[in-house]
Amino acid sequence: MRVEIINFFKKSESYVSGEELAQKLGLTRQALWKHIQELKSLGYEILAVPHLGYRLEAVPDRLYSWEVKEDLSTEFIGKKFFYYEKVDSTMDIAWELAKKGLPEGSLVCAEYQTQGRGRLRRKWVSPRFKGIYFSLILRPEISPFKIGLISLLSAVGLVNGIKRELELPLSIKWPNDILIEDKKVAGILTELDAEKDRVNFVIVGCGLNINTSKRELPENATSLYLLAGRKIERVRIFRYILQELEKIYLTFKRRGEGTIIDNWRRLSYLCGKRVKVIFPDKESIEARVLDIDSDGALLVRNSEGIITRVLAGDIEKLS
Ligand code: BTN
Repeated sequence: MRVEIINFFKKSESYVSGEELAQKLGLTRQALWKHIQELKSLGYEILAVPHLGYRLEAVPDRLYSWEVKEDLSTEFIGKKFFYYEKVDSTMDIAWELAKKGLPEGSLVCAEYQTQGRGRLRRKWVSPRFKGIYFSLILRPEISPFKIGLISLLSAVGLVNGIKRELELPLSIKWPNDILIEDKKVAGILTELDAEKDRVNFVIVGCGLNINTSKRELPENATSLYLLAGRKIERVRIFRYILQELEKIYLTFKRRGEGTIIDNWRRLSYLCGKRVKVIFPDKESIEARVLDIDSDGALLVRNSEGIITRVLAGDIEKLS
């Protein structure tokens, strides 16, 4: 009923009489009033004028599932949408849901995370109502060795989604940091539940700095607001991102990794650059980035011509 009322208001250019609205929705005036109070408590600014009726003055800047799902032209991403104002981490909730068998495309989104986490056990700063923080359940039928491709395709989806809202020189730093002019604007964390030869599910966690101010961000990070010089409509950009994520994922499922790799090369921040590769479990090396392979591993060559496949680790650009 909540969604029906909101849609009714959105379609009406002027005041809507309470009597007419109640009648159309099959509600008593008292029940309608209760719904209006609930909408107000959710942040919808609704003006009530005697003899004229109600008018929707403003929609809150919230990622409510019904707002994001309105006009969301996806087949499966976001069909099941779990919205929270505050969580420890959307990753944990999505993991529990995936364990319970929720389908591919189910999504957990929060306005604020107290324990937002990033790759390599880093913290992900998630200030309230400023970013987009979500975790998506995918169930790709691939070998666990190919899971790196899911990270890469998610990064491509995020870039394509952002580009639909803003023309910015975005690039992807392997495996999946989204950068603009050397500063990070978004990051992706993938967590995998797999057996030896099959993936049960993967949780793709995406964090985007949208309207985040400079003082709320770490030193090496930026936000779309800081780059564009204006406040960004989070709901719209979220829709674009979900649509682009689905598009690239479906392309991957139908045609394999070719499109992802082409897109990744086009957007790569590191191709041809000298880098330091910091491995989680062995000594760092210095090398030049060549490419990625069909599993999504980074290929680097050191000064002696030895080529290394990097599957996990951190990359620092040297030149
Ligand atoms: C990284 O750049 O290291 C990855 C950052 C991933 C952050 C997102 S925000 C939504 C989801 N929940 C988390 O706790 N982390 C991911």
